[in-house]
Amino acid sequence: MEITTELHEKLNQLNSKYASLGENLNSYLEGLLHADVTTYWDYIQLDTLLTLQKPKTSFPDEVVFIMYHQITELYFKLALREFEQIGACQELTKTFFVSRVTRINRYFDALIKSFQIMIEGMDREEFLKFRMSLLPASGFQSAQYREIEIYSTDFIQLVAKDKRAEFSSTDSISDMFEHIYWKEGATEVATGKKTLTLTQFEDKYRESFILLGEKCRNKNLWQSFLRLSEADQADESVRNALRENDTNVNINWPLAHYKSAVRYLAKDTEDIAATGGTNWQKYLPPRFQKRIFYPELWSNTELENWGKAWVESTLQNPH
Ligand code: HEM
Repeated sequence: MEITTELHEKLNQLNSKYASLGENLNSYLEGLLHADVTTYWDYIQLDTLLTLQKPKTSFPDEVVFIMYHQITELYFKLALREFEQIGACQELTKTFFVSRVTRINRYFDALIKSFQIMIEGMDREEFLKFRMSLLPASGFQSAQYREIEIYSTDFIQLVAKDKRAEFSSTDSISDMFEHIYWKEGATEVATGKKTLTLTQFEDKYRESFILLGEKCRNKNLWQSFLRLSEADQADESVRNALRENDTNVNINWPLAHYKSAVRYLAKDTEDIAATGGTNWQKYLPPRFQKRIFYPELWSNTELENWGKAWVESTLQNPH
């Protein structure tokens, strides 16, 4: 093989790289001689990935359930990386902000569309049996879902609606955490006690959520928006990207998810108990939950009608 000037230049660059690390290029070239080439299956860790489905029962559809949750968590991870990069960006520009929020919106678009895999894609009778083997585990315990909320908005927006007025956004995160809205979704209706689903979740993640809340005080997406110039904040492409984010995460995904709860758990007479005896019909619909990340971007009428129309039609035609 001819040692062209280009190749010579590459060797020089490599030499400088290893010299700067105090290493000898020759040894690394020898290593290259013996190393295997990269394969697709090793690169994406395919064998490991395909061994991560461990059903608790032998009902075939349990694997659909597990894998769709895993797919969702991977998308959540993609979204979180974007939040992290926007928050860490020192010289935030409108272009970067919009392009990264649009990525997050795209991940959620994919999840919203694909939720049909849950809604239509499992046998209802099988589901109702295998779900009993998973208790008290619930998607409620998805830490990444909660991290997305914490990365999106000021922590105070996650405080339960009826408690929010007692706090200001500068209050300690751990005080606000005591009244986080989601506790309502994992409290036994009959006794008012925390469900096991909730106590286990809090035992594992409480501290890390509070730390993340502190870290995101000035780095959540809303605060990043406020770091843009006034002209950029007024730009419709920026505002629309955030509005789409709010509707995707707080209306469209919860509605698709709620639809699956209705399909599997709603009965004509009374609802099938959710994971811990919670009142999911009253908790899950966005019109009741009214979780809104960027209230300043919506009109009063839009805020009042948050998530309304769709729920009414679903309740009338459960399955
Ligand atoms: C057939 C499919 C599903 C059904 C029937 C279902 C049912 C429920 C129910 C009843 C709750 C209320 C809390 C509880 O009682 O456990 C809940 C919460 C939750 N589930 Fe699911 N779920 C399904 C699929 C999923 C999937 C695929 C994910 C993806 C990670 C997920 C994530 C969540 C989250 C994040 C919550 C908490 C929502 C909130 O606090 O607003 N679920 N689910």
